[in-house]
Amino acid sequence: MSLNSGHELVLVVDFGGQYTQLIVRRIREHGVYSEMVPYNKAADVIRERNPSAVVLSGGPRSVDEADAPTMDPAALQGIPTLGICYGHQWLAANMGGSAKKAEGREYGRQALTSVAANSWLAGLASRQVWMSHGTEVVQPPTGAVVIASTDGCPVAAFADEANKRYGVQFHPEVSHTPAGKEILRRFLFEHVGLKGDWTTANFIEESIARIREEVGDAKVLCAVSGGVDSSVMAALLTRAIGDRAVCVFVDHGLLRKGEAQQVRQAFTEHFHPRLIVFDARARFFSALAGITDPEQKRKTIGEQFVRVFEDHADDLKDCTFLAQGTLYPDVIESGSSTAAKIKTHHNVGGLPDWMRLKLIEPLRWLFKDEVRALGRALGLPEEMVEREPFPGPGLAVRILGEVTSARVATVQEADWIFRTELRARGLQVGIWQSYAALLGDVRSVGVMGDERTYENPIILRAVQSEDAMTATAAPIPFEILEHIATRIVNEVPGVNRVLYDLTSKPPATIEWE
Ligand code: XMP
Repeated sequence: MSLNSGHELVLVVDFGGQYTQLIVRRIREHGVYSEMVPYNKAADVIRERNPSAVVLSGGPRSVDEADAPTMDPAALQGIPTLGICYGHQWLAANMGGSAKKAEGREYGRQALTSVAANSWLAGLASRQVWMSHGTEVVQPPTGAVVIASTDGCPVAAFADEANKRYGVQFHPEVSHTPAGKEILRRFLFEHVGLKGDWTTANFIEESIARIREEVGDAKVLCAVSGGVDSSVMAALLTRAIGDRAVCVFVDHGLLRKGEAQQVRQAFTEHFHPRLIVFDARARFFSALAGITDPEQKRKTIGEQFVRVFEDHADDLKDCTFLAQGTLYPDVIESGSSTAAKIKTHHNVGGLPDWMRLKLIEPLRWLFKDEVRALGRALGLPEEMVEREPFPGPGLAVRILGEVTSARVATVQEADWIFRTELRARGLQVGIWQSYAALLGDVRSVGVMGDERTYENPIILRAVQSEDAMTATAAPIPFEILEHIATRIVNEVPGVNRVLYDLTSKPPATIEWE
């Protein structure tokens, strides 16, 4: 099932480029719905879905190699098409022009040295473009004319206005091409003639209709963790089917200070579902007693979720569906935008076998920022919509050594001070995650009020990241760190030292365990 019934659709054919997802996002930012399709399925999908336009992505290969990625050019007949980088070369090579390996590679910022008057690229505020290629177009496709060049690339762009076929050797989707947004806007609205009918309000309306159709009279189990994705998913389901969205929140006692309470409040105050809270704190703490190994902690927590669901079989036995907050990047990562990927819910950690639930994933076409916009439109409070990613096993992986309720309280207090101080100065902006961790089994000697202390250290970690795959330590000013350290040692019992983690990922990871 796809989203565009009755709407404008731009399909982005993926030839394996590193920016393909970004092209999809940029098109959606213009209010036009877009999806990615792998090149080997592209022709069939285009014929089936009849998109308003097609964009051909970049890719690591050269079009003149024997087994280079390709598709049936006839599928593009009559459809406005924009080729980017590899896509630009592919259009030339397959539509009557030619492309060949260049003498050298052209990489990085370049300037368009000539641009044809009255063309698609005329009069842009900036002529700076981002290039990354080792193959170039020699002859544009039949009917197309060259409309821009750089010093190293004679055919940097071409246009065939009659057939609405365009190509750019550079990448308009990256921020290093300052006029990239305008270039895509002109393509979508002036050349293809789209209107831009992809809005959050439309999405809500259509998703509700789709959920109602799929679910019928059944009940849907929505396991919520307090994170953005599951909260938005539950809010959407509740809007669609009211109380038949059975929202369950397992309080394992391992959330940040005040967050369990916040989840309850946000749900009951902001969209009034029947939120079922299973207070499983005692169960989790007793199961975690004596465990120090990080993987063992994760496994134990996963198992306890299953036990909690088993304990409450009576409350849940009527549910025939399970809603998951899978997002579009997860779907894309599975290798195909048309194949479903079933992701184990981090926070549920697998459900018991007797729950043979059908899966629904209402957010599987959305990017994270779109999910946040959707959450706002559904009335979720800002603190919930803007919440940082948080690991499913919670504070258990931020307490090194055994997890006890006393240690959880210590880490919660330190974490609270750290994050409150960052927020008070607006420093949380641009930070991917920030948290406090406790070295539970390490003690050091200190002195406080003339007395010797022998207590635990707290580690502060704040990182900048795009996607959690890599990360760097956030450059928080030293005086602020010092102030925070003083507050933590003064206000949190049992802590006499504070350290700031400067390590990037790799070689470290974001979490300590
Ligand atoms: P690392 O520590 O591997 O974390 O750099 C990358 C991202 O994943 C989160 N994380 C987890 N999320 N269950 C989760 O749901 C887990 O066991 C888990 N471990 C790490 C982490 O917070 C970061 O955003």
